[in-house]
Amino acid sequence: MRFIALPVAVLGFSVLGWADPVPEWHPPTVTDFRGPCPMMNTLANHGYLPHDGRNITKEAVVSAMGSALNFDPALANIMFEQAVIANPEPNATFFSLDDLNRHNVLEHDASLSRMDAYFGSNHVFDQATFNETRAYWGPIIDADMIANSKVARQLASKAFNPTYRFTEHIEDFSLGEMAAPFIAFGDIKKVTVDRELVVYLFENERLPTELGWTRKTQVIKVEDILAINGKIGAATSLFTVDNAPNTTAHDMNRRRDLHAGIPC
Ligand code: HEM
Ligand SMILES: *[C@@H]1O[C@H](CO)[C@@H](O)[C@H](O)[C@H]1NC(C)=O
Ligand SMILES: *[C@@H]1O[C@H](CO)[C@@H](O)[C@H](O)[C@H]1NC(C)=O
Ligand SMILES: *[C@@H]1O[C@H](CO)[C@@H](O)[C@H](O)[C@H]1NC(C)=O
Ligand SMILES: *[C@@H]1O[C@H](CO)[C@@H](O)[C@H](O)[C@H]1NC(C)=O
Repeated sequence: MRFIALPVAVLGFSVLGWADPVPEWHPPTVTDFRGPCPMMNTLANHGYLPHDGRNITKEAVVSAMGSALNFDPALANIMFEQAVIANPEPNATFFSLDDLNRHNVLEHDASLSRMDAYFGSNHVFDQATFNETRAYWGPIIDADMIANSKVARQLASKAFNPTYRFTEHIEDFSLGEMAAPFIAFGDIKKVTVDRELVVYLFENERLPTELGWTRKTQVIKVEDILAINGKIGAATSLFTVDNAPNTTAHDMNRRRDLHAGIPC
């Protein structure tokens, strides 16, 4: 019996994409560690990661990302290597969710759902901040909408936080975060995702199974994330193509002068 059952289970997982049921959700207790990442908190709440948010090893990350979201082990490995530097101990082999709170290590300004460290907690979900973000999202979020919410949060921080910091390195990290909702819950090719699922994740730190979401059957690879990052990055530009209707020669000359900075 076992001899036959085992290969079937393995096949089911990898080929047909069956996944075990999502483990029960329990909110964090007062002694549990949580951080600024809505997904890491969610995975801890479901017990995919240690519920206390401590001692998260590479094996734990690979297993959690694989069972919960069907991430390729190679991708999960890269994510762990990027994360473990947040543990201040040299050569650490694990991190805790509160290590992720260290400002300007991985955690940065202009988050979609957390205040800047300058204003208060940089890791506890903040409804007012998230409301700002959500205002840019339609019922189906696309690359432009997520990019607009990202740029809006950056503009608010740049304008009102005198310690605002957002380097090119942070931009790379930030684009990965913006890609995450599409990767976990959306259409990776079209770069669209139901707003309802994303809002549910942020506001409840829980997987949206009760809204009908199931783990993707397709394995998520590094290339999938990079492709989406590129599209969102392009969508953060505030330029358009020149779609103005045809104008007279006089207008064209005037535009050229303005372009050269010469007022008429
Ligand atoms: C080892 C794995 C991961 C680590 C260490 C990690 C870490 C972080 C950190 C430090 C932040 C805070 C950045 C900020 O200051 O805004 C963050 C934000 C975020 N993460 Fe993760 N993350 C991981 C995996 C994931 C996954 C798998 C997803 C979803 C598929 C995800 C979704 C997000 C989103 C959407 C944000 C933006 C939150 C906001 O702007 O308010 N993360 N993550
Ligand atoms: C678990 O992590 C804590 C810090 O969060 C550390 O003090 C402790 O030594 C770790 N335990 C193990 C078994 O590595
Ligand atoms: C960390 O690793 C480096 C390179 O392997 C080694 O030179 C160093 O001594 C290690 N530090 C500690 C505190 O173990
Ligand atoms: C956020 O938006 C919701 C729905 O529009 C509203 O009910 C709530 O009062 C807002 N919360 C904050 C803190 O702005
Ligand atoms: C502008 O004029 C050119 C040539 O007269 C024409 O081919 C083009 O379709 C026009 N474009 C628009 C947007 O009206």
